[in-house]
Amino acid sequence: MNTSFRPVKVRQTVMRAARFHEYGGAESLVIEQVPDPHPGPGEIRVRVAAASVNPIDWKLRSGALHQLIPLELPDIPGRDGAGVVDEIGDGAQGVSIGDRVFGLGGVTGATAELLILSAWAHTPATWNDEQAAGAGLASVTAMGGLNALGSLAGRTLLVEGAAGGVGSAAAEIAVAQGATVIGTASERNHEFLTSLGAVPTTYGPGLAQRLTTLAPHGVDIVLDTAASGSLDDLVAIAGDPKRVATVADHAGGQRLGAHVVNAENDPALLSAAAELGGQGRYTPRIEQAYPLQRIADAHAHAERGRTRGKIVICI
Ligand SMILES: NC(=O)c1ccc[n+]([C@@H]2O[C@H](COP(=O)([O-])OP(=O)(O)OC[C@H]3O[C@@H](n4cnc5c(N)ncnc54)[C@H](OP(=O)(O)O)[C@@H]3O)[C@@H](O)[C@H]2O)c1
Repeated sequence: MNTSFRPVKVRQTVMRAARFHEYGGAESLVIEQVPDPHPGPGEIRVRVAAASVNPIDWKLRSGALHQLIPLELPDIPGRDGAGVVDEIGDGAQGVSIGDRVFGLGGVTGATAELLILSAWAHTPATWNDEQAAGAGLASVTAMGGLNALGSLAGRTLLVEGAAGGVGSAAAEIAVAQGATVIGTASERNHEFLTSLGAVPTTYGPGLAQRLTTLAPHGVDIVLDTAASGSLDDLVAIAGDPKRVATVADHAGGQRLGAHVVNAENDPALLSAAAELGGQGRYTPRIEQAYPLQRIADAHAHAERGRTRGKIVICI
């Protein structure tokens, strides 16, 4: 028997991912091989079919948030995604290898072949992978904002910024919960808002006046997803800051006493979104799907602030 010691080389397996090595513009994104991640306790790993692009991705990549949320560079952009479970961390319940899921991980990490999720739900059969990828952050943010406003049934809700990722999710989900929804968007998006079940109007000067025609009995509650500086006007329209929630204007919300809502990695909200999806009452709208190698174009597109629904990246 040969007893001589031979060191065993453990080969680190790698995946393809988009990364940025320094804060900067969309052109700083590169595709490269990086070590595979593995799930910790309570987490799962997903072989990613598609990841979504959210405003936080380009805000983090640019360095605009580096004091609030410092990143360890290089880092992989992306907050949410969808795919098939391929590894399960200790204690993670209710999920099996091969299940189709969508959900949320950390603030970064999604735009890669493998993604760690700490909150997830099973993808309804009614959604393709791109739609599932678009449902993560948008749905939990929309539902968090709507939940802060109390019961929706029979009430008139104004969604400021209803054509965007969060706004379009909020509009459709609120309609499903029995609200009459008025949404603001530029005119080119009015048909889109109608397709969500919302009554469209334009944002900006004269909004209160336009609403007197669209909602003669008044607007009961308001969800702001636009960060456009309109929060004072929205509070005046609702008549009480406690009837207003914002996911976008934290300083304004605090100053005015409105509900300030942040997305949470909450599996219950994801499951509720999936259930509505399965019933055909919430379908994330995908404006454009980019291949991974065009992630810089996807970020540049998102950064223009005119996204209709969601932009996703197919891995
Ligand atoms: N607190 C949280 O945890 C959280 C989570 C997710 C997102 N957010 C924040 O919420 C905001 C929305 O996110 P998102 O993913 O929905 O962004 P998004 O998809 O990039 O939003 C784009 C939409 O904004 C609309 N818009 C632009 N200017 C507007 C204005 N002045 N008034 C009304 N709508 C306007 C555009 O409609 P038109 O093209 O028709 O103008 C476009 O459809 C962002 O500020 C984001 O950072 C916060």
